[in-house]
Amino acid sequence: MSTAGLDPTGATGEVVLAAREVRKSFAIGERSLEILHGADLALRASERLCLMGASGAGKSTFLHILGLLEQPTEGRVILAGEDAWSLPARRRADLRNRHIGFVFQFYHLLPELDAVENVVLPGMIARGGPRFDRSAARERAENLLDRFGLSERLTHRPGQLSGGERQRVAIARALFLDPQVLIADEPTGNLDTQTGERGLDLLLAEQELRGLALLLVTHDERIAARCERTLTMEDGLIQADSAHPVPH
Ligand SMILES: Nc1ncnc2c1ncn2[C@@H]1O[C@H](COP(=O)(O)OP(=O)(O)O)[C@@H](O)[C@H]1O
Ligand SMILES: [Mg+2]
Repeated sequence: MSTAGLDPTGATGEVVLAAREVRKSFAIGERSLEILHGADLALRASERLCLMGASGAGKSTFLHILGLLEQPTEGRVILAGEDAWSLPARRRADLRNRHIGFVFQFYHLLPELDAVENVVLPGMIARGGPRFDRSAARERAENLLDRFGLSERLTHRPGQLSGGERQRVAIARALFLDPQVLIADEPTGNLDTQTGERGLDLLLAEQELRGLALLLVTHDERIAARCERTLTMEDGLIQADSAHPVPH
């Protein structure tokens, strides 16, 4: 399925990830509360796209749907040309593993595993089985962590790491399977300015080096200034693109 030419902003480049009319409701007791009211988004190859918006606007919910972690109530997510939520679960998981790296707001590292194991684990689950080479995977994780300045922290568990170190382990894990798209939910939100900046520099350097499409949620204007486009989520909808206003 092609999504070329559907971007109302007129931006060019191949769309790697798109949301079309995404709605999401949660059941609250007997009632159903709609959080996303038909959100659209198009993320292009190699671009840095920033998503801002008030707390509670639905940003994390939208990222989880785009990252194929949570099912929309209505609407479509198109990843690498596939209508992801219409696929059987197994094929969708495979699509996600091949294309998407996700850095969670609070990292979600597993406390009983060390840094290397945290980086390797999603790969083992995704690519497990007799053909998965454990020692090659470990070596790959160690190389990533080494590049991120964590060579002395390989066997530390999350509880023995600082916030900035945990963030870098989470970034390494997201990059482990060589995704095409990196989604990061407030990756610097829980860190002091200097630590957050270091992690962000590293994230952006990897993005550039690998030519990744990056979708980043942040509250920080300085981070937004380092992205090519900024979208705002308001009341469960994506507002017009700030860098390329819709022409009339
Ligand atoms: N699993 C859930 N069940 C019920 N309500 C939820 C759930 N997840 C999120 N919400 C609600 O959806 C709204 C948007 O949440 P969220 O996507 O986390 O916003 P943001 O990331 O922009 O702060 C909030 O009001 C939140 O309470
Ligand atoms: Mg959030």
